[in-house]
Amino acid sequence: MGSMPRVVEPGQDQFVKALAAENRAFWADRDVRLDPGASPEDLLSQIRYRMRQGVYNELRSVELIAAWLPTVKEREIRQLLPRQLDDEQRHYQLLRRRLLDLGEDPDGYEPLPEWVAFFDWLVAARERPTVEKLAMFQFAGETQSCEGFETLIRLARELDPETAHLYRTQILPDEYRHAAIGRQALLLLADSPERQERAREACREMNRRVFQCYREHRARADRQG
Ligand SMILES: [Fe+2]
Ligand SMILES: [Fe+2]
Repeated sequence: MGSMPRVVEPGQDQFVKALAAENRAFWADRDVRLDPGASPEDLLSQIRYRMRQGVYNELRSVELIAAWLPTVKEREIRQLLPRQLDDEQRHYQLLRRRLLDLGEDPDGYEPLPEWVAFFDWLVAARERPTVEKLAMFQFAGETQSCEGFETLIRLARELDPETAHLYRTQILPDEYRHAAIGRQALLLLADSPERQERAREACREMNRRVFQCYREHRARADRQG
């Protein structure tokens, strides 16, 4: 009769892998914010537009984590959130500074209404169970963000190396850590068929909403040129 080591159920590990694959499949060809086939000039303007909206998104991410913190009671997860909040605040400042250096007025940018509504919806989701919230933002959202940043960095490398370097060295590593918080939350909390179903539905809802934002984002970027 030895002590029972705490192990992650094999079922949970399988579940998280399957859900990651489902999310990845959803996102194939759906991050339309940047068009790799666009002319260098158009691509650079898409990258700039991404950065302007990015300043807003990073700032709202700070607010979102702050709003969720009091409702995340699970110690193992809760203790990871203050650092994420700090990271998002730093990203906000870095991107804002970069736009200033490029001669832009980041504070004069008016965020896309769909992004505003999206973050309002996420903040209001604070009352939902931790497994759903973290499935949405950290697991589905941050994982897609990492993919999106990888693409951005690849496409910006020639056009705007300094910005590419900033994303690669100062932002992307943090975002991978945020995505890992999502995985950890699911491994810990998606421990019944019912909770797994809730997490899966939360990811689907999140993916749909983010995709809607991406489409509107691109349409507006194209209009504004
Ligand atoms: Fe961030
Ligand atoms: Fe993040």
